[in-house]
Amino acid sequence: MSATANLAELLQRRKQGHALEQPFYISPEVYQQDLDQIFYKEWLFAIPACQLVKAGSYATLKIGAYQIVIVKGGDGEIRAFHNSCRHRGSMICKSREGQVAKLVCPYHSWTYDLDGKLLWANSMGPDFDPGQHGLRSVALRDLNGLIYICLADTPPDFDDFARQAEPYLAVHDLRNAKVAHTSSIIEKGNWKLVWENNRECYHCAANHPALCRSFPLDPEVAGVSADGSISGRLQAHFDRCAAAGAPAQFLLSDDGQFRLARMPLEVPAVSYTMDGKAAVTKPLGRVAPADAGSLLVFHYPSTWNHFLPDHSLTFRVTPISPTETEVTTTWLVHKDAVEGVDYDLQRLTEVWIATNDEDREIVETNQDGIFSPAFVPGPYSPDWESGVIQFVDWYADRMERTALPRPMAAE
Ligand code: FES
Ligand SMILES: [Fe+2]
Repeated sequence: MSATANLAELLQRRKQGHALEQPFYISPEVYQQDLDQIFYKEWLFAIPACQLVKAGSYATLKIGAYQIVIVKGGDGEIRAFHNSCRHRGSMICKSREGQVAKLVCPYHSWTYDLDGKLLWANSMGPDFDPGQHGLRSVALRDLNGLIYICLADTPPDFDDFARQAEPYLAVHDLRNAKVAHTSSIIEKGNWKLVWENNRECYHCAANHPALCRSFPLDPEVAGVSADGSISGRLQAHFDRCAAAGAPAQFLLSDDGQFRLARMPLEVPAVSYTMDGKAAVTKPLGRVAPADAGSLLVFHYPSTWNHFLPDHSLTFRVTPISPTETEVTTTWLVHKDAVEGVDYDLQRLTEVWIATNDEDREIVETNQDGIFSPAFVPGPYSPDWESGVIQFVDWYADRMERTALPRPMAAE
């Protein structure tokens, strides 16, 4: 049976409210469809803009088979290009990040300006037109200091998300941020298991002792209520934050791709620290009140974020193989905050470094159990795993809409 037909069948017989069947988590064919239909088409969070500090700062990313370089130009503009030379295709930037004056291919030294124009190519003959051999650009948007890219030739709409997210993000002032720390870990699990784990806190009490000091064990915080209702307690929190100038209202997009909500932390915590107190004395942003909690933003398939009154955290999800996923966490603080004076790096990062490692282990153990031929998808908890149901429904809907109409290969 062809992979496409197989996927169609799997989607059609999916039991809503249940974990997916084994091939969704292990099959190379389904993985390729996930790349083709989701990661190669959707807008993806790449990096915080402040990661590129000056002209010539760059970061590279690998998304499926694509090599991408994101670089800050002499004009201050951030651009994304395919990291593949227009001569014979060599990768141009090999490091994860770096600083260059020009983009110089390591193979035969073709030299590109930071805006992608080919400046120099040795001995290419009189008919060679450098104007036809600039780097191929990749769509890029800067949303309040968060860089998103899209690999599609015709990217889907980004404006709706940008318009709705902007007021929530504006008060966090990410344009005046700097990177305090970045961690990249590989979780030996399918990217959907990483997301499923992220979208519930059913597992938190048993697995996250550090996080549970500040993150509330309330299914309403991680999840979405089936009927869209919001408890009086949460609504009062949203109203109080909004009255203080920090938009907070729960907002789930119509298609389920993104959610914004400023959720309260466990009283009296104001940040993700072991003692619950602020991690940074020079705050990033202008969020009042101090107990506004955490603005939780997810945007499928590539990112979830926590924006706090004192600092912000971005997470990027990058599939590496059918059963491996990279999770990159970046801690952002005010650009003028001084390590050792305004914040202690260990105190700032310890809760999420521990939590990420705990989540890695959970996801890997989940993946190992799913490898068993005896695995039968079980039901999600309607109370505690509404967020997982919401993610899996979004995934299945996206795959049904994009993967299925394609002509099916012959058996
Ligand atoms: S492949 Fe880049 S200069 Fe030849
Ligand atoms: Fe977790």
